[in-house]
Amino acid sequence: MENIKAWADEVFDKIEKKLSRTAPAVGDTMFPYTTENGRFVNPYNDDWWTNGFWIGILWKMYLATDNEMYRKYAEKLEEKLDKVIEEFIFLNHDVGFMWLLSSVINHRITGDETAARRGLHMATVLAGRFNIAGNFIRAWNCAPDAEEHNAGWVIIDSMMNIPLLYWASRETNDPRFYNTATAHADTLLKHAIRPDGSVKHIMVFDPETGEYIKNITGQSYDVDGAWSRGQAWAIYGFTLSYIHTGKIEYLDAAKRIAHYFISALPEDNIPPCDFRSPKEPVYKDTTAGACAACGLIELSKVVPEGESDVYLNAAIKMLRAMEETCCDWSDSEDSILGMGTEAYHHGMKNVPIIYGDYFFIEAIMKLRGDKKDMLFW
Ligand code: GLY
Repeated sequence: MENIKAWADEVFDKIEKKLSRTAPAVGDTMFPYTTENGRFVNPYNDDWWTNGFWIGILWKMYLATDNEMYRKYAEKLEEKLDKVIEEFIFLNHDVGFMWLLSSVINHRITGDETAARRGLHMATVLAGRFNIAGNFIRAWNCAPDAEEHNAGWVIIDSMMNIPLLYWASRETNDPRFYNTATAHADTLLKHAIRPDGSVKHIMVFDPETGEYIKNITGQSYDVDGAWSRGQAWAIYGFTLSYIHTGKIEYLDAAKRIAHYFISALPEDNIPPCDFRSPKEPVYKDTTAGACAACGLIELSKVVPEGESDVYLNAAIKMLRAMEETCCDWSDSEDSILGMGTEAYHHGMKNVPIIYGDYFFIEAIMKLRGDKKDMLFW
């Protein structure tokens, strides 16, 4: 483990060098998403679900370095998200990703009351999406007269959004948020996980009766696919729900999904976009690898000592493989981790995506074991 810590320290030095250049270049002007010709760009609007990740990176760097520059940009960009709150119409299940990594971290680190209000406001929005007939938090939005109405859709990604509710319960000393989170997690526990430990992406319920109907393809290869980022959201998400609740069913679920993920990993230790897709074309997804690594490291801390290495070693193998073959430490590239893929059938393939950088940095910081580092989720 000493060697791993030394390796993580070395990688952290490279991260710090890169961020000391890119953070001032980005300033408070944008929320980086991917890169074009080596420079950060964001082809989406300010309401895009990933716009908290860069802010989360800035806060992680602030904690690790005490450099006020990171804090200043994180605070400014958080204010920029207020426009999205005011517009309201684009808020959906992803408010967890957006405001947990911005306002909630800000409040936890600095005690800022405005940030706490933003976090509680967004937790209320997330809880307000709960469908009492089916015990689930609805995914996305659509126009009331849309051809394909998605009021009964639920996605595995949401397991990473509900930590906002656990935080809100602690903050207000009101179990409603906690109860909403666990009711939703229990529904996914029942319907999202297949007997072999793989997870579905989108589950469809009848929004009136709450009855489970079927699952659909979503970002997977096909309806029976094993979309690797979905597996990663589930490993980390169920582990987090275990950490926040102590419910053993969540830990057992995280382990089962982790066993599937680890056994499906290819020889190069870098996940494909879907573990059940054909070998060609090659669509890799390092964002899945980095997120799964974070979940596996946390899982390794909560299982009995004798089981811990299975998860920790799998995480380390993926992180080392990604560092060796997918990281760009040069000044001609703003991002760190390349080879991320949005979805199997649509969107960008084999490109840097900001949440890949976020989870890679989070995983490296976990391996360093810096006392100031925090579990933000
Ligand atoms: N949460 C959307 C995605 O993972 O692409």
